[in-house]
Amino acid sequence: MERYHWAREDYLSARVKSASLQLRHHLDVRAGQIAAGGSRVYDFSDETNMGAEQEPVKQAVIDMVKKGLPVGELRGLSSFRQVIAEKEKEEKGLDLDPDKNIMVTSGGSMQSMYFAMQATIDPGDEVIFGYPGLTVDEIAKLAGGKPVYVPIRHETGYRYDLEALERAITPKTKMIYFNSPNNPTGRVFPRDEVQQIADIAIDHDLLVLSDEVHETNVWDGRKHVSIATLPGMQDRTIVCNSITKCYHMFRWRVGWMLANEHLIDQVDKLMMWSAQFPPPLMQAGAEALLRGIRGELKDWYRETQADLQLRRDTLWGWLSSMPGFVPFKPEGTFLSFSDTSSLDRSSVKLAEYLLEEAHVLVAPGISYLGEGHLRISFDRPRDEINEGMERAKAALEEYPGPARGA
Ligand SMILES: Cc1ncc(COP(=O)(O)O)c(C=O)c1O
Repeated sequence: MERYHWAREDYLSARVKSASLQLRHHLDVRAGQIAAGGSRVYDFSDETNMGAEQEPVKQAVIDMVKKGLPVGELRGLSSFRQVIAEKEKEEKGLDLDPDKNIMVTSGGSMQSMYFAMQATIDPGDEVIFGYPGLTVDEIAKLAGGKPVYVPIRHETGYRYDLEALERAITPKTKMIYFNSPNNPTGRVFPRDEVQQIADIAIDHDLLVLSDEVHETNVWDGRKHVSIATLPGMQDRTIVCNSITKCYHMFRWRVGWMLANEHLIDQVDKLMMWSAQFPPPLMQAGAEALLRGIRGELKDWYRETQADLQLRRDTLWGWLSSMPGFVPFKPEGTFLSFSDTSSLDRSSVKLAEYLLEEAHVLVAPGISYLGEGHLRISFDRPRDEINEGMERAKAALEEYPGPARGA
């Protein structure tokens, strides 16, 4: 029998060939090598996992192991879906039936976005993405869809260019991906701007995929407005979320999708034929955290979030005096985004330089369709922010410019 060779291009699907990995991957690998060589790397590309360190989370997992794992439920454990519904009602006023409107995932919000697009996008359908932004346009490509890009510009304080958005809409447009609080810019879109996006979605009869993973990471008294809560929007919005960013449990990979019951019925097939059901053990920990922050972990959560804002302030102090940086003050998320194009248009070169010279790992803007920028996370302990930024500043004062390595 003839065997296919895996390297044969014609054996690969057009979908998989059309998509790529995140561009910053090689930097993460190099940071690992530097750390393995015994040097400390100051990592400002990632998040902490403080949620998973809480006792009720650990206890819930231990209890489930001792009792034995329950039968897996296709849409996730009903007790976990119940707490998600309560949380959404309490925080946003959304009415959700835990049995009809919620699908838990075992791959964070990334998997819920994957499911959302697999369930709604046909080959040739267009999906609109703001840029800079998270490169989930790759998920649209994997569904056979065509990403269409609309600018949100630093010069306008990262507002959507609404005229460009209107112009981008064609008869093939099916969905707008909307992310607030926003990665990488740190912008929290205020109610009037969220309403403008909702109006466009309604006028053109579009779906909205609302990525709300940073929903409670909002600073200076701001409030996150879920586009699903605006009049006429809940039915056409798919909310994707996880315990990664606001609940500080990135590595647990638990996420969920909120949508109308007809869509969730269809997503059942995607869950069944990809994972069968999300693992109960991880949900036990996630549920303990979400319940806990409404009870015994309330004070811990309030203090953690308040401290995150103080870390923002610490980083902001450094960014404001960093040579060549034009930073945007984060309104939400734990991410800062700075225009560094006066130092080097190539964000990868600048990030590589910081890693090699200062052992400081940051994310190049190009990974977020924002060339000429660097993204720096402040979800790090304050002493690490201070030490790392001091090293970055010293290195940048010596930066020889774009000619280096050219
Ligand atoms: C805005 C945003 N959405 C979604 C994700 C995916 O995260 P997860 O799959 O852990 O929920 C990320 C991760 O970087 C993100 O920044």
